[in-house]
Amino acid sequence: MAVHLACRGYQVTGTETNESKTELIRRGKSPFFESQLERDLKKALAMGTLRVCSTRETSPLDSVITFIIVGTPSLRDGSVDLTYLKKAVKNCAKRLAEKEDYSLVVVRSTVPPGTTEDVVKPIIEQYSRKKAGTAFGLAMSPEFLREGSAMHDVAHPDRILIGEYDRRSGDLLEEFNRKVYGSNTPIIRMRIASAELAKYASNAFLATKVSFINQVANLCERIKRIDVVEVARGIGLDPRIGERFLDAGAGWGGSCLPKDTKALVTFSRKLGYRFKLVEVAILVNKLQSRRVVEMAEEELGSLYEKGIAVLGLSFKPNTDDIREATSVRIIRQLLNKKAKLKVYDPLAMENVRALFGRRITYAHTVHDCLKESECCLVLTEWDEFKRLKTEDFITSMKKPIVIDARRIFDPRRFSKKVRLRSIGLEKYREEMA
Ligand code: UDX
Repeated sequence: MAVHLACRGYQVTGTETNESKTELIRRGKSPFFESQLERDLKKALAMGTLRVCSTRETSPLDSVITFIIVGTPSLRDGSVDLTYLKKAVKNCAKRLAEKEDYSLVVVRSTVPPGTTEDVVKPIIEQYSRKKAGTAFGLAMSPEFLREGSAMHDVAHPDRILIGEYDRRSGDLLEEFNRKVYGSNTPIIRMRIASAELAKYASNAFLATKVSFINQVANLCERIKRIDVVEVARGIGLDPRIGERFLDAGAGWGGSCLPKDTKALVTFSRKLGYRFKLVEVAILVNKLQSRRVVEMAEEELGSLYEKGIAVLGLSFKPNTDDIREATSVRIIRQLLNKKAKLKVYDPLAMENVRALFGRRITYAHTVHDCLKESECCLVLTEWDEFKRLKTEDFITSMKKPIVIDARRIFDPRRFSKKVRLRSIGLEKYREEMA
């Protein structure tokens, strides 16, 4: 967001607690992989519109809006760790104490309902010695960026939610968003807690939708001449359902869906309410990774000392992120069964190496990964894998068995010389009409 606004000509100051990250960003390097980010970061630095401060330095006093965009990771019990948020808010409040003019504080981090008003506001008031609604405004505006397309999403939001403490805060944030995004982007103003919950509900709904289609896929596997991809198309064209997020696969992962579903379930429980639908969506997601391992067992019998190639490690394509990735869960299960694993991913190799070290083998290319293996699991739908042909499996593998857990191969175009098992397709594809 900071980079996007700076590229658009807004004067932006970013504050970062980690000194080495601050240095990296100043040199135009992104501390994590995100498509287009580094290119735009360099552009913003060259334009002179982006300043990066460490928390030891002082941020400018003339800013009109301060966005709080720090991580809110999961604690062991699934609830949300607000430590980083509280620290950032405290720093922001100390600067606010020195400001003469009215300014607006906007929480963009994903936080449980009530946090902005019950945690953020008192901290700001305590450390700034100013009152919300008079000396400063307060709002909560969740972001809906997807990893891998964050720069696109920040430039083209499908909606902007403004949870406002008071009208003045909402007016100021709406005016700012209208300037940035023009008149076509829907802006929805609401109470602060509604905006906070909307973010969790949005991610929980998406997760539930994927778990739903994964259960349809599992049912499809028990029915002859049926394919979940066709079923998904059939239901997705109903605008009340929608086509997106109906790709059956190995399950959902990443930094947001797992964290936010857990947080919503924990938050609800603390209020004495069991959010059973989301609890089950989480359970179904765990079982889905087991389903992939089961498919391998159906083909190979015991996995003991069997050579298995894993293609795709990141939780989705175009990122190196393996947080809560299905691949990690599946690799753990395969290691417990004493399979011999060789893995490959276009971006995520180093992250996986840091996690599994010498317990698995790391391939340099797809073909290196497939070499001598008895079964190949495709766990992320990278374009590079979509281009693979039947011959690639036949020539490299000891036994050409492929478990397509992301439905990237069209079974009708795959030679029968390869044993292809696909999520959501019945086992014996010879019987497919
Ligand atoms: C998500 C939300 O989409 C985004 O709005 C929010 O701000 C952050 O969380 P992200 O975590 O980047 O974004 O990934 P997303 O594209 O939503 O995919 C999440 C997981 O669901 C991935 O593991 C993906 O493989 C899986 N998925 C998604 C499916 O299995 N099937 C689908 O049809 C869609």
